[in-house]
Amino acid sequence: MFALDGRSAMVTGAGQGVGAGIARLLAAQGAIVAVNDLDPERAEHTCAEIRAAGGRAFTTVFDVTDPQAALLAVRTFERAVAPIDILVNNAGNGGAEGFRPTRFRQSVPEDWQRFADVNLFGVMACTKAVLDGMCARRFGRVITIASAAGVSGQSFGISLYGAAKGGAIAFMRHLAMESARDGVTANTVALGLMDPRPSGRDLAHTAEQAKHIPVGRLGTPQDAGATCVFLASDEAAWITGQTIQVNGGAITT
Ligand SMILES: NC(=O)c1ccc[n+]([C@@H]2O[C@H](COP(=O)([O-])OP(=O)(O)OC[C@H]3O[C@@H](n4cnc5c(N)ncnc54)[C@H](O)[C@@H]3O)[C@@H](O)[C@H]2O)c1
Repeated sequence: MFALDGRSAMVTGAGQGVGAGIARLLAAQGAIVAVNDLDPERAEHTCAEIRAAGGRAFTTVFDVTDPQAALLAVRTFERAVAPIDILVNNAGNGGAEGFRPTRFRQSVPEDWQRFADVNLFGVMACTKAVLDGMCARRFGRVITIASAAGVSGQSFGISLYGAAKGGAIAFMRHLAMESARDGVTANTVALGLMDPRPSGRDLAHTAEQAKHIPVGRLGTPQDAGATCVFLASDEAAWITGQTIQVNGGAITT
């Protein structure tokens, strides 16, 4: 079960952190992976890890907020390698290089755009680039990595981020309905607090944060990757339009 042999996947923002973990796990299940990142060295690093483990991966360097660049990258990959069956919209700015929490009252309109750009319009740009092909081939899996901030209210200054992630969640729900008869599923993985250890910082702070998570630890790229493997598999064909909470029990619905 959950084999991805013969499938190909594009994972955005996969040069480090959660996206790199998702790319590694999809490749380990047999998928050929297009590793996207803004940063070519990071993308190449993830590809090298996948190849070293016996998988197949290629870099595809572009900015997900540029719809033309996304389309060109998808066309190039599909001509050279394989049609994209699985898209994981992971690029976002809630991670290691994220943002300083700012309450909405302290924000100015110029702050708003960058949250919508990567977390919402980037999702649309990459989805647009792959969707026609998926529908024509009557198989597709679109998975968007969102956040608990997109499903629940918080007081500590993440409303701009939460609004953009919430928009992406709603987009996946509608896309799921529009594409259900074409063999394409669309789901969201809403992550809780993830472990920043790959970037080697602030272990004491991490341990303190873990105390507030029922399972007793922060999430890992493997937790996110395993969920994506499942949603990408043939076995998950009847799951669409859903938001899967992967958060160690921090939020229940
Ligand atoms: N880290 C967390 O605690 C956490 C919690 C909930 C949700 N998330 C979400 O999970 C996803 C991954 O987070 P992470 O912690 O691995 O982040 P990260 O900052 O460690 O890595 C993100 C990667 O995406 C790339 N990237 C950023 N903007 C891009 C763009 N416009 N085009 C292409 N690549 C781009 C960066 O270069 C980087 O390599 C994000 O969507 C984030 O919002 C993270």
